[in-house]
Amino acid sequence: MKLKNLILQMALVLCAFNMNAELPVYLDDSKPIEERIDDAISQMSLKQKVALLHAHSKFSSPGVPALGIPELWTDDGPMGVRPEVLWDEWDQAGWTNDSCTAFPSLTCLAATWNPEMAALYGKSIGEEARYRNKSVLLGPGVNIYRTPLGGRNFEYFGEDPLLAGIMAAEYVKGVQSNGVAVCVKHFAANNHEWNRYTTNSIVGDRALYEIYLPAFKAAVDAGAWSLMGGYNLINGQHATYNQRLINDILKGEWGFDGAVISDWGAVHDTKQAVEGGLDLEFGTGTDGLGSKGNPYDNYYLANPYYNGLVEGKYSEDQLNDKVRRVLRLTMRTAMNRNRPFGSINSDEHHEACRKIGEEGIVLLKNVDNTLPIDLKKIHTIAVIGENGIKRMTVGGGSSSLKAQYEIYPLEGLEARLGKDIDIVYERGYVGDTCTHYNNVWTKQDLSDPRTPEQLTADAVKAAKGADMVIFIGGLNKSDHQDAEGCDRLSMDLPYNQNELIEALAAANPNIVVVNISGTGIAMPWLDKVKAVLQAWYLGNETGNALAAVLCGDVNPSGKLPYTYYASLDQCAAHKLGDYPGTPRHDPVEGDIIDMKYNDDIFVGYRYTDMNKIKPTFPFGHGLSYTTFEYGKPSINRKKGSVDDKFTVTIPVTNTGSREGSEIVQLYIADLKSSLPRPAKELKDFAKIKLQPGQTETVVFEIGREDLCFFDDKAHSWIVEPGKFEAIIGASAADLKGKVGFEIE
Ligand code: BGC
Repeated sequence: MKLKNLILQMALVLCAFNMNAELPVYLDDSKPIEERIDDAISQMSLKQKVALLHAHSKFSSPGVPALGIPELWTDDGPMGVRPEVLWDEWDQAGWTNDSCTAFPSLTCLAATWNPEMAALYGKSIGEEARYRNKSVLLGPGVNIYRTPLGGRNFEYFGEDPLLAGIMAAEYVKGVQSNGVAVCVKHFAANNHEWNRYTTNSIVGDRALYEIYLPAFKAAVDAGAWSLMGGYNLINGQHATYNQRLINDILKGEWGFDGAVISDWGAVHDTKQAVEGGLDLEFGTGTDGLGSKGNPYDNYYLANPYYNGLVEGKYSEDQLNDKVRRVLRLTMRTAMNRNRPFGSINSDEHHEACRKIGEEGIVLLKNVDNTLPIDLKKIHTIAVIGENGIKRMTVGGGSSSLKAQYEIYPLEGLEARLGKDIDIVYERGYVGDTCTHYNNVWTKQDLSDPRTPEQLTADAVKAAKGADMVIFIGGLNKSDHQDAEGCDRLSMDLPYNQNELIEALAAANPNIVVVNISGTGIAMPWLDKVKAVLQAWYLGNETGNALAAVLCGDVNPSGKLPYTYYASLDQCAAHKLGDYPGTPRHDPVEGDIIDMKYNDDIFVGYRYTDMNKIKPTFPFGHGLSYTTFEYGKPSINRKKGSVDDKFTVTIPVTNTGSREGSEIVQLYIADLKSSLPRPAKELKDFAKIKLQPGQTETVVFEIGREDLCFFDDKAHSWIVEPGKFEAIIGASAADLKGKVGFEIE
C-alpha cells in the first residue's frame, strides 16, 4: 500500500511538471468540481469513504492518501488562527512559528456596522489561515445575543439577525476569497454556555426563522463552505445531527451544498449522526491507546458506521452524499491549486486590526465634552484598573490566541500621550492574575501583594492628584468573565469594580470609564461618571486603537449591536424564559436541561420596545465627537403592492465641527398583523461619513423581505396587506422620523 502511495505521489509530481500528461479527472481542476467528485467517488473503497468522514487528529481529517486527496486541516477561529496543538491533545505543540494577528472580537466587528470592515476582517484572517495551511477556519460564530450572561457573546455579532447576517456574509466572502473555508458556528439556538452539552433549547419555529436562523442563512447564501453543529439539543434532538435543522432546513430549504462538521465532541450516536445529516465528525474522545486499532477508528462515523454499512443498515447513497460534501470542501480549499499563498502578521493585518478596533469602539456617554482628552486642559491623568495592563488575547476558550504582540491600553496611552502628559497608573483591584491559558504565556506577572483596601486607597490617591481619571476595567476572559464553557454569574462587574468606580468618582468627578468586555454589564455608577466607552477585546492593537479614540485622533463611530440592559429583569430570556433551564431525565438522551425560549421572537429591543423598558443604552446607540441632524424622511409612494418599489430618503447633516460617521438605521413597523409582531424591526442601515456642514441623503429601498413575517402554521414568509411605517433611528430608541405607507 505504501509503495502504491509513493508511486501515485510521484506520478502527481510528474504530472505537475508535464502539463501534457493526463491527470486523473478528480485532480484536474480544469474540470467541473462535480465531475471530479464523481470520479473520485468511483475510485474509492467503502473503507476510504468512511475514513474521509472523521478526524484523525484533534484538528484534521485524513483525506484519501492512496488517491492523493490531501488531509483537511481545520483550526479555530474566529478572531485569529489558534496556535498549534499536539496531534491528539489540546496541549500546545510548542511551535515558535504559530503566532498570529489577534483581531478584535466579533462583537466589536458588529459594532462597526460597516460591512467593509467585515470584508477586510474576513480577507485578513483568511490570509493568516491560508498561510498557516489551514483549509477550514472554525468561525464565524453567529449565534444571537440572548442574555448578557452568555459566556461566548464576545465571539458573536450581537442580538439582531439582520445586522449579524450582513456582517457575517462579508466575513464569509472575505475568508473564502483565500481558498479557506469558513465553518459557521454553532448551528443553532446555542445562545449560552451553562450546561452546554446537555441543554435542550425548546424553540418555536417563528423564533427560529425570524431570530436564530437568519444569520446562518445569510452566511449560507454568501456561499459558506462548511457549518458546525452546536453541542446543544434543539427540541429534543442533538443540534449537530438534527433532522429538522440540518436535513430539512439547512440542506433542504436553503440548498446548502457544504459539509456539516460536528462541534468537538458533539456526537453521541452513530445512527442519529448518519441520519441526521452530519458529514464530518471531530473531537470525539478516544482512549488514545489504539486498543481497537487506530483510536480514531472508534469514532461514531468510523468503524461503527462502516460496520453498519456492511450490515446494510445504512445506504451507500447517503454515504456518498456525505463523501461528496467533504470532497467538495476539500476541492474548494486544500485541492484548489489557484488559491493565494496567504500572509501572516503583516503590516496590513495589524493595520486592519487597529482600524476595525477604532471603528468598533462605542462612545456610550460623554457629558461636558469630556472626551476627546483636551490636551490644553489636562496635564495629568490617573489610569486605573487592571484591564489597563492586562493582555487579553489569551483566554476565553477555543478563541484564545498566541498573538505576535499585544499593546495593552496603558502602553497605547503612554505611547500616544506620554510626552505631553503625566500618566500615573494604579491597579485599583486585583482580578485575574493568571499568567497563561492553554500553555500560552502572557509574559506578565500580575501578582500584587497589596490588600484590596490598600489598592483602593492607592487608586483614590492617584485619582485625587490628577486632572482626569481613566478607569479601564470590565471583564477579562477568565471563567465566568466572557469565557467559553461557563456563563457569567451576574451582570455586575467583578472584583469590586463598582465600589471602586464610585470611590474614584467621589475623589475626582472628571472620570471616564472604559469597559472592556464582549457583553453588557450593569452600570450602577453611570450618573457619577462623565464618559463611558465600550471597548471590547481589540486584539494586538488594543492600546493603540483605544488611545486614538480617547485622544480624538479617531472620531468614534461604533454603535451597540445589542441592548445594554440595566438589569437581567429587562432581558426577556430571564424575565420570560427559564434560564438556566430545568433538569429532566430523557429516556434516550439521559439527563438534559430543558431551556424554554418563551421569549419567542421578542429578543433584545423587540422585548424592551414591547414593554416600554428603558435599558441603560438601547440597541444601535453610540455617540460621536461631532453632532448629526436628521431632516424629514420621505417616501416615494404612499400605497402600492408588495412588488412595488418603496424608497425612503432621509437627509443627514454633520452639524459639528469635525468629520464623523453616522449609522442611520431603518426600522419597519407593521401596524396590524394576524400574528404578534415586534413594534419595529431593523431592516437596513447605512454608515455615512460626513465633513462638518455636509449633508447626505440616505436612500433605503424597502422590499418584500422587509415586510414579511414567518407564519409558522403555514410554514411560509408572508406579507399581509395593511399599514406599515418606515422609521428612521439613530438607535432603537432615538427615533428621528417616520413615514407611513400601505400595502394593498
Ligand atoms: C468549541 C468550538 C471550537 C471547537 C474546536 C469547541 O469546544 O465549541 O467553537 O471550534 O471546540 O476548538
